[in-house]
Amino acid sequence: MPTLRLPLATLVLAVMSNPCTCANILMITMGGTKSHKIPFWELARGLIPRGHNITFLNAFPADFLIPGLEEVTPAGLVFYVKNFTNWDLVGARMRGEDPVHPLDMLRYAHESCEALLSDTETKSFLRQHHRGTFDLLILDGAFPECALGFAHHFDAPFMYINTVGFYTGSLSNAGNPSPYSFIPFLSTDLTDSMNTLQRIRNTVWYLAAEALHSVTVRWFLQDVVRKHFGEDVPLVYDMAKNVSFILQNGHATVTYPRPYLPNVAEIACIHCKKAKPLPERLEEFVRGSGDAGFIYFSMGSSVKAANMPVYLRKMLMVVFRKLPQRVLWKYETDDEMADLPSNVLLGRWLPQQDILGHPKLKAFVTHGGLLSMFEAVYHAVPIITMPVFCDHDSNAAKAETDGYALKLDLTTLTAEKLLSAIRKVIQDPKYREAAQKRQRLLLDQPETSLERAIFWTEYVLRHKGAMALQSPSRHFGVLQYYLVDVIAILVLSLLACYYATKFLTRLVANYAVQSYVSEDYAHGKVE
Ligand SMILES: *[C@@H]1O[C@H](CO)[C@@H](O)[C@H](O)[C@H]1NC(C)=O
Ligand SMILES: *[C@@H]1O[C@H](CO)[C@@H](O)[C@H](O)[C@H]1NC(C)=O
Ligand SMILES: *[C@@H]1O[C@H](CO)[C@@H](O)[C@H](O)[C@H]1NC(C)=O
Repeated sequence: MPTLRLPLATLVLAVMSNPCTCANILMITMGGTKSHKIPFWELARGLIPRGHNITFLNAFPADFLIPGLEEVTPAGLVFYVKNFTNWDLVGARMRGEDPVHPLDMLRYAHESCEALLSDTETKSFLRQHHRGTFDLLILDGAFPECALGFAHHFDAPFMYINTVGFYTGSLSNAGNPSPYSFIPFLSTDLTDSMNTLQRIRNTVWYLAAEALHSVTVRWFLQDVVRKHFGEDVPLVYDMAKNVSFILQNGHATVTYPRPYLPNVAEIACIHCKKAKPLPERLEEFVRGSGDAGFIYFSMGSSVKAANMPVYLRKMLMVVFRKLPQRVLWKYETDDEMADLPSNVLLGRWLPQQDILGHPKLKAFVTHGGLLSMFEAVYHAVPIITMPVFCDHDSNAAKAETDGYALKLDLTTLTAEKLLSAIRKVIQDPKYREAAQKRQRLLLDQPETSLERAIFWTEYVLRHKGAMALQSPSRHFGVLQYYLVDVIAILVLSLLACYYATKFLTRLVANYAVQSYVSEDYAHGKVE
């Protein structure tokens, strides 16, 4: 089949003869949890061997080095985020409170921006690097507004990694359709099939969130950006419309099927990796569990397990003690726990994917963080979710719909409920089978998420943006986008036609009657 081989050969030649579209890339995330860094790291790991230089600005000092990646973590931002996130989210959720108050969410956007931009390290970074230093900026699609000031400063094209897959704000601002009728709001437990009441709830959530976002950006954040980058900085919402490409941290199989414009590509599981052998200490512990196997318990990095209420910790101990399985528990403290059951091992940092891919693992108890959910599917592990905040409820609802998860509510959690959920997920094979089915669906793709992300990043570099892929819909207001103006004009025209016709008919009828009558007069038939 020479016709098929020829283009491939040309492609290979083209790539070899032009091995480097080498560029300087600046990545920025203002994300308040470390998990926001992970998709950026993975993309950087893929880009660096291809000759790109990457600088990564974020709020979490690196605890390991990636050769070729320069991380900038201004102390002011690091401190602000650390202080802001010293929270007990689980306790708040259990007491039925908002884990993070909506007003605190608002405050976060402009305060973290001020903390970043007034920092001396940031200032010297901006002085040392000028317009043209960076060929491309890759920003976090969740809270990109502050970082857009950098895109203005460096006058470079920019793209997003939309780290919070269920967040639609950055997508809809770039002109993507995001109908409230089947796209659940990120902090609800709604799915993509909603009845009328649920659609009302979903719509109210979206409208409220958009109003708050608009207030915080227009009234507070815009001023911070102007103060530091100059009065000529356009409205950040307008700058955001220019986003060249969006790498969306989702995939139809694990988030939901959604309509996207051609400058969006899904990259869920860009960070997923085959399991490596466990460190010896862990492997020994896990192997000691015999046929019963083990379960893995982790509330992720944003939810600090060590800050959880004492009564929850006690409850967990009661549950774990009753299990025939061994339990690996991610817990961030160096203190010994006095009443720790003998079948439990604590770890401050545990190699999550190597654990999830371990053949002896029976179930994963998780807070429902997006990356953890992707990993659970990638390694086909049935899960029990205990959603805490942000997008956890959405993620958990999707996993439950797909049949590989049981969801527990922290506000009504008891030892019996947790114990029976763990037993059910382990004993009923349908959960593991559903996880395996999801895994097959997720993996059945023409290329890996990383390959796709690299291709589109270099596409934007090659074309200095992605103008050809951007839709003019991003400039439309609500009236124009939903054709409200057109519908109004059409309805008015129809009404006008209707009444005009009615009026004319009456006129003609009257005239006809009159002329008939007057004709009769003329012929002298009327006495
Ligand atoms: C990347 O950094 C190295 C070392 O600082 C430099 O020699 C090289 O020119 C840079 N590459 C680009 C594309 O600027
Ligand atoms: C730290 O956080 C607390 C609670 O959110 C806040 O009241 C306080 O002002 C913060 N401290 C600093 C120095 O930002
Ligand atoms: C968006 O990009 C276009 C083309 O590069 C540019 O002319 C325009 O000023 C940009 N808009 C904003 C608000 O930055």
